[in-house]
Formats: sequence, structure tokens, C-alpha cells
Amino acid sequence: MGGSPIVLGIESSCDETGAGLVRDGRLLGHAVASSMAEHARYGGVVPEIASRSHLHALRPVIRQALGEAGLALTDVGAVAVTTGPGLSGALQVGLAGAKGLAYALGVPLYGVHHLAGHVAADTLAHGPLPDPCVVLIVSGGHTSLLLVRDLAREPIVHLGDTLDDAAGECFDKVARVFGLPYPGGPAIDRTARAGDPRAVPFPRPLPGSYDFSFSGLKTAAARWAEGHAGRELPVADGAASLQEAVADVLTRKAVAACAEYGVGTLVVVGGVAANSRVRSLAEERCRAADVTLRVPPLGLCTDNGAMIAAVGDLLVRAGAEPAPLGVSVDPSAPLEYAALHPAA
Ligand code: KG4
Ligand code: ZN
Repeated sequence: MGGSPIVLGIESSCDETGAGLVRDGRLLGHAVASSMAEHARYGGVVPEIASRSHLHALRPVIRQALGEAGLALTDVGAVAVTTGPGLSGALQVGLAGAKGLAYALGVPLYGVHHLAGHVAADTLAHGPLPDPCVVLIVSGGHTSLLLVRDLAREPIVHLGDTLDDAAGECFDKVARVFGLPYPGGPAIDRTARAGDPRAVPFPRPLPGSYDFSFSGLKTAAARWAEGHAGRELPVADGAASLQEAVADVLTRKAVAACAEYGVGTLVVVGGVAANSRVRSLAEERCRAADVTLRVPPLGLCTDNGAMIAAVGDLLVRAGAEPAPLGVSVDPSAPLEYAALHPAA
């Protein structure tokens, strides 16, 4: 029988438990369970709660993904799992499950970098990535501008990274100050619809650099809110102006990088790629610069197992070396290669 094996991908780095099945770049099925609601009243992810809910959700989520794909566990030919970065306990639950399955099925195991998963998510919707492409990763924990060649074989080049907070973190923290619910990103996005993006002149830090900084913006937003003490806060204007500042900085640098490096494709991935203004401004600026924009559909932007399976599938087809069964997690792994096989 020809063809490459079916790869089961497992994701458990934060508050989403994901399982996905991919073969030859095609998504066969996936399922996600989220413990987000359990963290909401604490205003952020509680690691112990996340780990425990991964433990409860892992088997049902794998079963659901297999059901959606019309497959049995014995059809799985390789297992890929996020080994970092992320919450240590949360990562360990996914890795333990993945090891058990790989060992029981007698199939190879691959350790995957979570952010490479976000990059690969787009291939499931729009096909193989062109070599090279510029990738903007914008999530709750990371903001990076990357030059990506062959994701399975070549090192990933960082053009710029955030020097402090991530873009999603900025949304989440400012939303809290504005009295909006957790998670803050979607709440800012919704609230901003009724606001004026030019109402507050928030700063655009680090012009002329591909690095990002969002903590000054966060402080400016908090000062602006404090300035309204005793009066009603025009939250919609604040949200729209903050969103505009973030979207402006992100898309300006990403499109400038495409021009400087002569790259014709920009891929925007991670939870903040779900933001409506980030998407529309990226579209506008890419069109003006004659750059092809790729953004995965919403369900593949936020954490999921399909994106990890997508990396596993690329690694399998590139003939990459599997991870030893003693592989461990690396909660603060830098993004250098898509495969992440920290020593036991
Ligand atoms: O990639 P992701 O699901 O998890 C991480 O790996 O961090 O990203 C989550 C982040 C959160 O900060 C959340 O507030 C943000 O993505 N986010 C958004 C939107 N949807 C999710 N930020 C702005 N606008 C949105 N619509
Ligand atoms: Zn993520």
C-alpha cells in the first residue's frame, strides 16, 4: 500500500486540548476541547486547572477526531505532539498520552514546536507554503515575524520578535482594565465595532524595526482609562483605537518585511489573526504591495491538534528522525526548527 501514514497530532500546551488527523497535507478530522470557561473567573489560565482538564479531555477528543475522520486508532501511522513551548504540566499530559499511544501502536513519535504548528495550520486550508514566505505569528504568548523556507527541513529565521508583551497579551490585559470579559482579544474586537479608531492617539512603538513592543501601548491604554476616573469610560473608542494601533504596527512591519526580502506571500497565524481589524488591514496593505495574504480559517487560528498533525505530516514526508520515547517537554523552547525533540 502506497501513500504516507496517517498522523495523529496532539496539542495541550495551554487551555485547549486538541487532536487532529492529517495525511499528505489533508485534514481528515479534528476536535478541540477548551477549559477557557473554567479560567474565566480567575482572569487568566490557571496551570493546575489546565493540566487536569487536559487529562479529562484527551481521550474523548482523540475519539471524536477519529470519529469525524471515520478512522480507528489502529489506522494511525505516526503520532505528533506539542513538546513546547507552553505550560509544563499541560504539555506533560499531552506528551504522556502521545507516548503511550505511539508505544502501544508501535508507530513513530514526533515532538513539535507549538508555533511551527500555528504556521502549518494554514497549509490545511490553502495548501503547501511557498518557499520562502514571511509569517507573522500573533498569539497570546508570542509575537514574531519570521522568514520561513521549507518548514520541515530548514531553520526558521526570526526577522523580529516582541521585546515584552505579546499582541494577544496586550489585548487581554487592556480588556481587563477596560472592564471587558476574558479572553480580552475577542471582547476588544466586538466592542471596537461601535468605536472610533481615531479617537485616541495610542503610540506606534519601534518604527523602523521588525521587533515589537506592546507594554508601552498597554500602559498608555491604562493611563487613558485612569484619566476618565469618575466619568464614564468610552470603552468602544478605547477598544477601537487600541485595536487600530496593534493592527497598524503588526501589518506595517509584516508588509515591509515582504518588500525588503522580496517575498510574495505573507501568512498571518495565531489567535490574534482572528482579529477583524488585523485581517482587514493586512488585506488592504497586501493588496497595495502586491503581496498574497494567507490567513487560516478562524477554527485553525486558535490552538488545535490539526496544526500539530500538519507539522508531523510534513516531518514524516521529509524523512525526519522521530523522537526517542524518553523525550521530555521544553516549556520555553525557542523557535528554531519545526521539530522539537528536547533531551529526556
Ligand atoms: O494562539 P492562541 O489561541 O493561543 C496561544 O498560543 O496564545 O491565541 C490566544 C490569544 C489570546 O490573547 C486572545 O485574546 C487572542 O488570541 N484573540 C484575539 C481574538 N481572538 C483571540 N485577539 C484579538 N481579536 C480577536 N478576535
Ligand atoms: Zn497557540
